[in-house]
Amino acid sequence: YQSQFSCNNTCTGPNVWQEIFQNCNGRSQSPINIVTRKVHRDERLTPFHFEGYQATFHGRLINNGHTVQLELPSGIRISGGHLTEKYKAVQFHLHWGKEGKPGSEHLIDGEQFPMEMHIVHIKEKYDSLSQAAKDRTGVAVLGFMFQESESNNEKYSPLVDALKRITEPSSNTTLTGVSLEMFIPPQKSLTKYFRYDGSLTTPDCAEAVVWTLFESTIPMSRNQLSAFYQLRFPDGKHMVQIYRPVQPLNGRVVYYSNGYISVASWVLLTSSVLFSSAVL
Ligand SMILES: *[C@@H]1O[C@H](CO)[C@@H](O)[C@H](O)[C@H]1NC(C)=O
Ligand SMILES: [Zn+2]
Repeated sequence: YQSQFSCNNTCTGPNVWQEIFQNCNGRSQSPINIVTRKVHRDERLTPFHFEGYQATFHGRLINNGHTVQLELPSGIRISGGHLTEKYKAVQFHLHWGKEGKPGSEHLIDGEQFPMEMHIVHIKEKYDSLSQAAKDRTGVAVLGFMFQESESNNEKYSPLVDALKRITEPSSNTTLTGVSLEMFIPPQKSLTKYFRYDGSLTTPDCAEAVVWTLFESTIPMSRNQLSAFYQLRFPDGKHMVQIYRPVQPLNGRVVYYSNGYISVASWVLLTSSVLFSSAVL
């Protein structure tokens, strides 16, 4: 993952490296492996309110040398979901593996998925991600896992087709007539999610992110996934395996929204009911 950020002639001394990786040794880093039998159910994790997700727009799709990113127009916001205030969407990007190898950043019970999408939101009062990254809860990322499907996900065709036009780093193209809701599962299936406090997964790894990872996955065919592996890094190599490995939890708790009782807590619940009736 560090190789994506290798310095060309623009960065010199070791202090530059220190600056780039400033927070990457912190204690609340991302991504993590989510162990579902250890999550804490939290009823404050209510459904999100999505604003402007259904609006169509023209957006710039960029090969920025370490991922593919879609710039989002203003007017797309999220609230609810136990966020303290409204956050506005700025971009989404993806993390993937290589042919036949998964590449999500987060793992669920040790399972890595073929790809992961991050919709990056920042508090409304900030003008940029770098500004928001100075605030412990300045950034809210919505993460979605992909699962391999037999048939193409037609809703992704405009994006997948556009990848051919941006195989070279620093190139861009315009996606026309797309909306954010095209790229994610139906809203009614977005009530189940995991929540924890973490960091950006790329340098400087600022610990400023309220993470939300949805249980519902996005289907994508093997053919469509292959299109991502054709993009190129600045060194000319194929842009593959662009994910950061999982980081230690260091005592952090992962919370889970509504509608979930793990087997372990079910046993606890049942035995405490038996116990209290025995006492009575
Ligand atoms: C998009 O590409 C054009 C050249 O094709 C370039 O002038 C422009 O700066 C690029 N924009 C971004 C945001 O990368
Ligand atoms: Zn990301």
